Amino acid sequence: MRIFHLSAECYPIAKVGGLADVVGALPKYQNLAGLQAAVVMPYYNRKFVQENEFDTVFQASTLLGTRRLYFEILKEKTDKLGFELYLVKIPGLLDREEVYQYPDETEQFIAFQIAFLDWISYSQQSPDLIHCHDHHSGLVPFLLYHSKLYTRLSHIPTVLTIHNGQYHGSFGWDKLSYLPEIDLTKTGLLDWGGAINPLASAVKCCWRYTTVSPSYLTELSISSNGLEYLFYMERAKGVGIINGIDTEIWDPKKDPMIPHKFSIKQITKGKQADKEALCARFGFSPDKPLISFIGRLVLEKGADLLAAAMEESFNEHPGQFNFLILGAGEKETEQELLELRDFYSEQCNVFIGYDESLAHLIYAGSDFLLMPSRVEPCGLNQLYALRYGTLPIVRSTGGLRDSVIDFGEEGGYGIRFHNASVEDICTSVTRALNLFQNTKHLQFLQKLMMALDFSWDRSAKEYYELYKSLNPTI
Ligand code: ADP
Ligand code: GLC
Repeated sequence: MRIFHLSAECYPIAKVGGLADVVGALPKYQNLAGLQAAVVMPYYNRKFVQENEFDTVFQASTLLGTRRLYFEILKEKTDKLGFELYLVKIPGLLDREEVYQYPDETEQFIAFQIAFLDWISYSQQSPDLIHCHDHHSGLVPFLLYHSKLYTRLSHIPTVLTIHNGQYHGSFGWDKLSYLPEIDLTKTGLLDWGGAINPLASAVKCCWRYTTVSPSYLTELSISSNGLEYLFYMERAKGVGIINGIDTEIWDPKKDPMIPHKFSIKQITKGKQADKEALCARFGFSPDKPLISFIGRLVLEKGADLLAAAMEESFNEHPGQFNFLILGAGEKETEQELLELRDFYSEQCNVFIGYDESLAHLIYAGSDFLLMPSRVEPCGLNQLYALRYGTLPIVRSTGGLRDSVIDFGEEGGYGIRFHNASVEDICTSVTRALNLFQNTKHLQFLQKLMMALDFSWDRSAKEYYELYKSLNPTI
């Protein structure tokens, strides 16, 4: 069975967050399980693209409103990622460096989707299923089923995976002319709240949608930036499938990005050696507990709570633990964290920016990873932390609730708290510091965490079952 995954991000080509990790891993595991999964994404002028060879497999032009766009479909020659990778290149629109935040983002993603559909329509390709990820490919189901141009493809099932229901990609009706000729009696399927809403349209038109954890499926009808009623009404079409992780890339036994490799057996020694390397880099004593945070510094991640919570915890436990932050995002939060570092320079350090290798070292060398997320559809950081024997301290929401059991409960291994608040974070920090004093217990939990299985095998199987229910020929 041939499946096309459509996504704005894919690791290692272009990564902003977990979407890239998922789209860079799931197809690989699907192929190992016997499917033929490929990824189609916009062309980005970045390292992976510059350093690898591509064949041009299709060339044509299309229309975006009155603008004629020349486009190419490029295929990576060797399938080295474990799947076929196709890039949609449109000079002047899809050939830039950054993934998001261009003023003409709407035009970029509409053009991406139209070029993809033109390609599979004119080249007589007929995938057995199209799997869209987030709003960037959210117009594809509508266009497949309600544009005359693509009637030949209208039998193809579509699945939408929602990685983040907060972003919809909405734009005004004045841009309707960017879409190819559509059935005008069906425009209601594009609309939400008086605008064209690609995520809402995808939920309405896809055959099934999935969320990246079971809890998030329920949460969308309570909080999804205005789409709550839609998710409530369409609930029967939804299924929650928790993400896995790429256990080849995220493997403390052979991770090239960490100085000391370790398996479950040598965890104490190996982890301590990585902790020493990490602490030496950031001026910390490796004997004290190290709590870290990695992620986008945005409200969703609770990053705005970090400075106040850590200030309170530093005062409550003076000189007793260290805190390290790796992230970038809202300028105000970055500034607050830099001030915290200046004030508590012996206990706190901050790296503002994006650094993949440093992230690996932090997962390996920290004792605890803090995730006070307000919204976390799945969250991969806690899964990476578990794999590297680092105890996650998480707010009980979305995928964090589904993957972390508090060590106070039977079979538990992490720390879970209820509210995204300074108080709950401080209480959890105190629990972590007490646990750190009990070396035997902590070592027991580290081994338990490392033995957990969050590989893609299980979740890839669930996607397979879902695909099969939509196309029994699979
Ligand atoms: P989200 O996609 O919402 O940002 P996830 O937990 O799903 O959250 O995935 C985040 C991914 O991005 C992880 O692979 C994490 O290690 C990585 N990451 C986030 N911020 C940084 C950063 N500043 N430097 C390196 N990696 C980062
Ligand atoms: C989104 C979510 C995150 C999830 C990731 C991958 O970025 O915010 O929770 O892990 O997608 O599905």
